[in-house]
Amino acid sequence: MVDEYAQFIQKVKKKTGIDLSLYKETQMKRRLTSLYEKNGFRSFTEFFNAMVKDEKLYNAFLDRMTINVSEFYRNRNRWEVLQNKILPDLLKRSKRLKIWSAACSTGEEPYTIAMVLSHYIPLEQIRILATDIDENALQKAKIGVYNERSLNEVPEDMKRKFFRKENHVYIIDEKIKKTVTFKKHNLLADPFDHQFDLIVCRNVLIYFTEQAKTELYRKFSDALNLGGILFVGSTEQIFNASQYGFSPIETFFYKKVKNIR
Ligand SMILES: C[S@@+](CC[C@H](N)C(=O)[O-])C[C@H]1O[C@@H](n2cnc3c(N)ncnc32)[C@H](O)[C@@H]1O
Repeated sequence: MVDEYAQFIQKVKKKTGIDLSLYKETQMKRRLTSLYEKNGFRSFTEFFNAMVKDEKLYNAFLDRMTINVSEFYRNRNRWEVLQNKILPDLLKRSKRLKIWSAACSTGEEPYTIAMVLSHYIPLEQIRILATDIDENALQKAKIGVYNERSLNEVPEDMKRKFFRKENHVYIIDEKIKKTVTFKKHNLLADPFDHQFDLIVCRNVLIYFTEQAKTELYRKFSDALNLGGILFVGSTEQIFNASQYGFSPIETFFYKKVKNIR
């Protein structure tokens, strides 16, 4: 068979701007195959032809390729390191930190950043940019209503302070919400803003090919101020960090120590 998946990738890119060739192939192919089979299609070609005509199917495709799993204080001990070691250092240089939560999914991550920072700065002074490729996820993030499971790791005092429980859901405090600006952004295609002091990008790089990751680390490095920090997910250690101008300072935290271009 001519590589049908390769053709599908090309057509999707042309139609949506999403380049699936930058995602690890085996995983992505498996996820999408199970989706089209579940919907009664027999091939990527059939699936693509239906998807361009049916918005619900296109949304199902987006939903399947984006894996939105998230939670507040995910890998909580890393957030303790951010709070107790990384932030005090960053705040010595400036009280106005420029912060980006890249691939923020349904908002748990940028809202966690705000909660952690609230130990040092009044919420009114906190500004966080949070981006994701998935508009549905961003919509949920803006609504800010979560189930109990996403709050498992939230420290009790933060839970009391920043959530209101109603029936079976938790509603996040308006003041926390106001610290975050959500925007649609594709890490693999859209330009990056610059001069960040902290970039948090967790649990998305694992889905990308090595080539895509290399390019992204370069772009994150360019986007950070000298002395700025990149905080990655707990399976996403960067090998050869120095080639991107990074120095590992704590597990899963990298400081930009030199400009690379
Ligand atoms: C597993 S979630 C991670 C959420 C959060 N960062 C965390 O660690 O809990 C992965 C997110 O990456 C987003 N994503 C996938 N490809 C992307 C891309 N090319 N650009 C931006 N976001 C992307 C997905 O939509 C999804 O919301």
